[in-house]
Amino acid sequence: MYFTGNSLGLQPKGVKEAFADECDDWATYGVEGHFLARKPWYSYHERLTAGAAKLVGAKENEVVMMNQLTVNLNLLLVSFYRPSGKRRKILFEAKPFPSDQYAFASQAQLNGLNPDDVLVELLPRDGELTLRKDDIVKAIRDLGDELALVCFGGVNYFTGQLFDMKEITSVAHEVGAMCGFDLAHAAGNVPLALHEWNVDFACWCTYKYLNSGPGSVGGVFVHERHATNRDLFRLAGWWGHNKETRFQMGPAFDPIPTAESWSMSNAPVFNMIAHEISLGIFSEVGMQTLREKSLQLTAYLDFVLNEVMQSTGQKLTRITPEDPTQRGCQLSVIVEGYDRKLVNKLYEQGVVVDWREPNVIRLAPVPLYNSFEDIYKLGKVLEQIFKR
Ligand SMILES: Cc1ncc(COP(=O)(O)O)c(C=O)c1O
Repeated sequence: MYFTGNSLGLQPKGVKEAFADECDDWATYGVEGHFLARKPWYSYHERLTAGAAKLVGAKENEVVMMNQLTVNLNLLLVSFYRPSGKRRKILFEAKPFPSDQYAFASQAQLNGLNPDDVLVELLPRDGELTLRKDDIVKAIRDLGDELALVCFGGVNYFTGQLFDMKEITSVAHEVGAMCGFDLAHAAGNVPLALHEWNVDFACWCTYKYLNSGPGSVGGVFVHERHATNRDLFRLAGWWGHNKETRFQMGPAFDPIPTAESWSMSNAPVFNMIAHEISLGIFSEVGMQTLREKSLQLTAYLDFVLNEVMQSTGQKLTRITPEDPTQRGCQLSVIVEGYDRKLVNKLYEQGVVVDWREPNVIRLAPVPLYNSFEDIYKLGKVLEQIFKR
């Protein structure tokens, strides 16, 4: 009973064979594999573009798969966090993934600013566990012309709260700020429409809901109004250079007028193999279908946790909002009176969940491979543990 698809997704069928094929091509062709491999390595990343664009609701010229998440966030911040005059603040949600906060702070420093002066973490109201949309909107408007960037997790990793990305983007733009999202917990979990929402930039990883294996390739979205703007500063490398002239090896960078121009290095083929297979599954099933099942699974998990509470008297406090439009599949639950050993007890019973200090378990029923029966059995195991 695997409830940690929000951390590392399970292996899709066909991955092992696809790795073996790539190893064979490498052994057969050596360097010529860049062009002669069955899936030529030279353009391997392009195989992922259509599927990734569909997944996040983007045009194909707005998406590129490259590097990993924090690297990509930093690269995007170099382009989209351009503090000037009094407009220098970065607003983000309470308890963002720490890596993001480190990136924000380092970008402030890169611009000669003190992170303490520009980083603004928006906290929930006293006594509340998640953010209210009205408070987010108010915070953006209050910061007004001091705000350079709003950068939220689409779904917060800790609380599981899904934010209204369309509204946040629109209000950020109203005050003249850029708006971007870390979609680590949103991509493959909830339907996205980044182009339509007018989001400036986004990045995500593919090893969680996207089941593409540990350290698999990251994803980047740059809205086409920026992607086609060759004057917008981006850190440069040869893989972002005009494909027609790349191998003339000239000295001047000529950016491809798409999101691809943010990519600097040649494709990490072995980090992309599983992702191609995974994207095929997502394209075949569709995010809407997955979301429909996901809503039912998570509602059932909520119900089962309530039942466990009733039958055992164990206090379980759901941090994640009750409103299904404000959450993905994950529920984060405070388990009073228990420590990390709870995870071991569950593991002994064949249940995999994860733990966040001081006393939170995160449970993610994933529609591609979790069943209602898994959730029912989880409830029984929890009952046994709490009754003792
Ligand atoms: C929300 C979020 N942001 C960033 C990261 C960091 O990812 P990476 O190690 O791929 O940079 C994670 C990893 O779990 C995450 O959950």
